[in-house]
Amino acid sequence: MRYKTNLNLSVNYQAQPVLTKLQRISWQTDLLGANLDVASGTLTIQQEDGRQLLNVTVPATTNVWREFDGVQLVPEHRLRATVTLTTTTGDQYEDTATFFTATDFGQAAWLTSPVDTAAGEGEFLFSKALTLSAAPVAVTMYTSARGLYELYVGDQKVSADLLTPGWTSYDHTIQYQAYDLTPFFAQTTTRQLNVRLGNGWYLGMLTWDRVKNMFGDHKAFIGYCVARFADGHTEVCATDDTWQSAEGPIRLNEIYDGETIDFAHAQADFLETTDRTAWSQAQVLDLAKQVLTPQQDQACRVTQVVAPMAMYQTPNGDVTIDFGQNLVGRVRVDLAALLGDEPTTLTLRHSEVIDAQGNPYFGNLREAKETVTLQNATAEAGSYAEHFSFQGFRYLIVTASRPLRVVKTAFQAEVIHTPMPRTGAFASDDALLNRLYENIVWGQRGNFVDVPTDCPQRDERLGWTGDTQVFISTGLYNFDGYAFYAKWLRDLASDQLPHGGVPAVIPDVVTRLQPQTHSSAAWGDAAVICPWTLYKFYGDETILVRQYDSMKRWIEFNSNAGPTPYAGNPGFHYGDWLALDIEGSSEGATPHPYLACCFHRYTAALMQRIATILGHADDAADYKALVAGIDDYFNQTYIKDGELTIATQTAQVLALKMIGLTAAQRQAIAARLNGMVINNNTHLNTGFVGTPYLLEMLTQHGYAKTAVALLNQKSFPSWLYSVTKGATTIWEHWDGIKLDGTFWYDAMNSFNHYAFGAVGNWMYRYLIGIDQTEASVGFSDLVIAPLVRDSKQRYVSGNYQSVRGNIACAWSNNDGQVAMRVQVPANTTGKLILRDARFGSCSLEGTYDAEAAAYTIPLSGGQTLQLTYQVL
Ligand code: BGC
Repeated sequence: MRYKTNLNLSVNYQAQPVLTKLQRISWQTDLLGANLDVASGTLTIQQEDGRQLLNVTVPATTNVWREFDGVQLVPEHRLRATVTLTTTTGDQYEDTATFFTATDFGQAAWLTSPVDTAAGEGEFLFSKALTLSAAPVAVTMYTSARGLYELYVGDQKVSADLLTPGWTSYDHTIQYQAYDLTPFFAQTTTRQLNVRLGNGWYLGMLTWDRVKNMFGDHKAFIGYCVARFADGHTEVCATDDTWQSAEGPIRLNEIYDGETIDFAHAQADFLETTDRTAWSQAQVLDLAKQVLTPQQDQACRVTQVVAPMAMYQTPNGDVTIDFGQNLVGRVRVDLAALLGDEPTTLTLRHSEVIDAQGNPYFGNLREAKETVTLQNATAEAGSYAEHFSFQGFRYLIVTASRPLRVVKTAFQAEVIHTPMPRTGAFASDDALLNRLYENIVWGQRGNFVDVPTDCPQRDERLGWTGDTQVFISTGLYNFDGYAFYAKWLRDLASDQLPHGGVPAVIPDVVTRLQPQTHSSAAWGDAAVICPWTLYKFYGDETILVRQYDSMKRWIEFNSNAGPTPYAGNPGFHYGDWLALDIEGSSEGATPHPYLACCFHRYTAALMQRIATILGHADDAADYKALVAGIDDYFNQTYIKDGELTIATQTAQVLALKMIGLTAAQRQAIAARLNGMVINNNTHLNTGFVGTPYLLEMLTQHGYAKTAVALLNQKSFPSWLYSVTKGATTIWEHWDGIKLDGTFWYDAMNSFNHYAFGAVGNWMYRYLIGIDQTEASVGFSDLVIAPLVRDSKQRYVSGNYQSVRGNIACAWSNNDGQVAMRVQVPANTTGKLILRDARFGSCSLEGTYDAEAAAYTIPLSGGQTLQLTYQVL
């Protein structure tokens, strides 16, 4: 039998990309389930005209294919990759992914509307009747915009993609998408192409200064449609001055502010009609096409729909709908269920939290309006959801221009972000911890709207490098985020400053406002830490090759920034952002030069490894010398009488994580760190910079119990504090809502800021126990070593779907009697380490290290182990 199945087939890390070059096709054999034994596999690639480009047999255990020598990708084609797995019983399971080859857009021109754009905050519309000479075999349309666009054939949107072409460093790169229009021409050879064009990141307001037109003065659309016919000929329809344009019913659209649509507007029904008499000729703009690049990750989509949990009137009289989850996306309103014929204006405001009085809180949005206004709405308008913005919210506040009976079933929240397969899961017997984990995942959804952002609601929503760097490991355990991060890293390299410094946000919109705020320690270091982390998780060195110059320039910048190459950058820094070890500052108590020195050492050491991996021996030798020099400098500057001269938790953590120390120094610093935490009533006081490594350093230096206690701490400051306060996402501040129920100050109080969620990495590695050795990449050499005895939980289970397949571990601890199940994917080796095990109690054979009280059991690919043992 032959079955269609889902193997998460991806081409160059995407489900449906546009390609200039084939680099990698991957699939997940173990999605077939453990009971099916795969004997062999084949991989084929076919062009839409039936031409076969590849047909190879792949070993049963392989799930990444990278040998494409001789596969020539002809431009402007649609291709199909098929993987077929044949089981030992002869059944065949296949998965198919379509992808497109690239275009140069031929004669296509950028189009704008001939209206006064200075006044035009609303959308532009474009339209063209496309007539083909005969029934086509395939029709592909390539589209992009300076702004945000949606493409329709008649009244049907061609794809579920949203917020296209996505946000990139537009001066260097504007992505384009490819859409298959073939089905629209099944019955007819003439169709109306329609386009909506909004402002988005390109023209709309960005940053707290609400700067418009950051990237250009005109919003513009470009499209190139290629139809292929059975006889081999093609017909092209490209944007030119025969297209028509008009202003559309969306009168205002801004990323931060939301959207206003007027249903009484002359073009309100433009999608349903083909009458274009009131339209003008589109205006051709002479703008560069070289910036157009195939899209690099999947475009944003609605990934789930959340129904209202409750509706009530707040003390100040607002009708408020509670979706039960702080989320990011848009609300779809069923106007037919809410309204009749009488034109009504509905105003929908969004809020993340309810204040101590029970009213929706808007203060933390700063200048962002987060408002959707539906003017002259009637039942006839059907259902509506905004097109060119997204909001961060849990609560929706509904007001109407006339008395209205609001029904909560008329509202649904659509969650929007870059779609990525989930790769991780965590569950335990502890509801608070499970909620913390869910909050981390929700924080990632909300801040993965095409760019890794700090927060999704206030007038910021920017690709802060530091936040991205601290979260990337957790992010990659949670979701298959390779393409998402790789896209952002390309922009980081493009936006890097001439001297090698790295802007604070990518795409860079801050350097031009605050020229001095770049290259902060732990922020700019994203340039090295992020590519390295992608490499660690995926084992694909192409990311290192691509980013090598960028990484190298970052190290050079730090080496050249001060009087000595070893001290780190003496310039601007954010410090240990939001640490609690100092009063009245957001920057924490750890001195900036200390942070700069530690991170310089850390990234230089990573570069030493990277240069070695890529065969740049001379560079590797230089980095080695640099690392030794920084260690010396650090010792002379920051160590006195065997102690660090800086007495903060973060300082101890970073020295342990980043500096070359003697065993004695290491022991002393770790002991001091542990003491600091205990003396602080077992509480952390670290910020964005120290927190991500705090539990890891405690655990690795013999203080796992303290790490566990910190994770399980419920009183402020702690991860679970926000959970006990009802958080459904990770807060920016440890005390976004204070003990007395009041808020931290308005200017900086996001309730959806994933940075402190970086603790997820520790939960995967030390609670579930899924980790890899220092030398391993792509989880080729596993270390499965959960903290069973020291954990407060009695039961933990979880998994990580790695590039080699699923790694899973589940354990329970009943009064010291442990039962464990471990799943190891094919092509993997590793070891299972049972810490604190009683000698002779393990049901499987392993080597016992009496001093460590640990059994070590070798793991081999494809194994599922089930065992029991007793802890000491
Ligand atoms: C952002 C942070 C960011 C920081 C820089 C804030 O406004 O929201 O997450 O990293 O600035 O310190």
